[in-house]
Amino acid sequence: MINIAVLGYGVVGSGVVEVLRMNKSIIDRNSGRKIRIKYVLDLIDFPNDPVQEFIVHDFDTIIDDEEVDIVVEAMGGLDPAYTFVKRALLSKKHVCTSNKALVAEYGNELIRCAKENNVSFLFEASCGGGIPIIRPLNTAMVADDLSSIVGILNGTTNYILTYMEKENLSFEDVLREAQRLGYAEKNPASDVEGTDTCRKLAILSSIAYENYFDYKEIKTEGITGIDINDMLYASAINKKIKLLGFSKREDNETTFAIVAPFLISSSNPLYNVNDVLNAISVHGNAVNDVMYYGSGAGKLPTASAVVSDIVEIAKNIDRHIPLRWNSEKIKLSDINEIKFRYFVRIKGNKDEMTDKLENIFGPLKRVISLDTIDGEFAIITKYMSENKFNELTKDLSFILNRIRIFNENK
Ligand code: HSE
Repeated sequence: MINIAVLGYGVVGSGVVEVLRMNKSIIDRNSGRKIRIKYVLDLIDFPNDPVQEFIVHDFDTIIDDEEVDIVVEAMGGLDPAYTFVKRALLSKKHVCTSNKALVAEYGNELIRCAKENNVSFLFEASCGGGIPIIRPLNTAMVADDLSSIVGILNGTTNYILTYMEKENLSFEDVLREAQRLGYAEKNPASDVEGTDTCRKLAILSSIAYENYFDYKEIKTEGITGIDINDMLYASAINKKIKLLGFSKREDNETTFAIVAPFLISSSNPLYNVNDVLNAISVHGNAVNDVMYYGSGAGKLPTASAVVSDIVEIAKNIDRHIPLRWNSEKIKLSDINEIKFRYFVRIKGNKDEMTDKLENIFGPLKRVISLDTIDGEFAIITKYMSENKFNELTKDLSFILNRIRIFNENK
């Protein structure tokens, strides 16, 4: 028998309880043991819910009970999640969590603490919701030298970008609709400003490249600056705008990481990842490109990933499950050295300004004007570093927006 305590009976916590009930016999069979919920910690009671028999309000009840083998952290946020998780590990209880903020901020310390106490700290649900990605990176892709991760890692922003493009709506209008449907949080800042994607990219990269990535050092831009006209030009050239988390290891000395909206072409598999879905493409030198795709958020998909951690821990109840994540921090290369082509919107008249722009940027890859948009046009520049682009454009007042183009250097 394995006893678990779930911290928090919100969306994820209640999903974990539901999946454990719904798939009880499968989960017990795959664990090789019976999994039993012993406690659910929450601030409030749930008198009309069968969960009430497990509800406790004091974390000490859980920590003091030697029968509790696994603590499932489903509270979110850093405080008190960090304190509770640390105490659980120090009390030699295994922990699994869906909390990407916690893992990105304290993963290094918590993984070390788990190892020192011969228990496990697992976080499959922290990235890509229900998509299995951490365990595949940690166990199935170990024969490869992994050199790039690129993913759509946030459902809310992918929904917003998808419907701005499909319905020709403004960012604000789609955000309101996403909030009404319950996809976006009331305060959607960490989604739309890219922080959520950044944390997930740091977690995935820490496993894939076997060194700790500090999410605070990753250059991060969100989607608040994207407008309808950007979408119209993108569609006209058969591209879409996607918020990508992208890390790339060129050699032991050179590793880049960035979160930003990118233009991607229709030949990229991420082009067809729409709505709230997520996808992560990983490149290994032997396996080549592998893509993981599915529900990046939501109650049952996220709970499915959490419960998969419970099963994994149950199968390894007497030991620490090692992760490829080493505590030595990776030194990120200057992102301004990485090269892209840029899509740039220009205020003014195309015929009058093209020569001037070629004098500034060199030969242009493309000049685009649309009958439906007055007073501006767009260009695609040659391939150049961010440093170069920033230097060339620092005094130009006619630039309306610029978006990097993903993986296009020809
Ligand atoms: N806010 C996140 C998203 C939830 O929209 O993807 C899942 O991590």
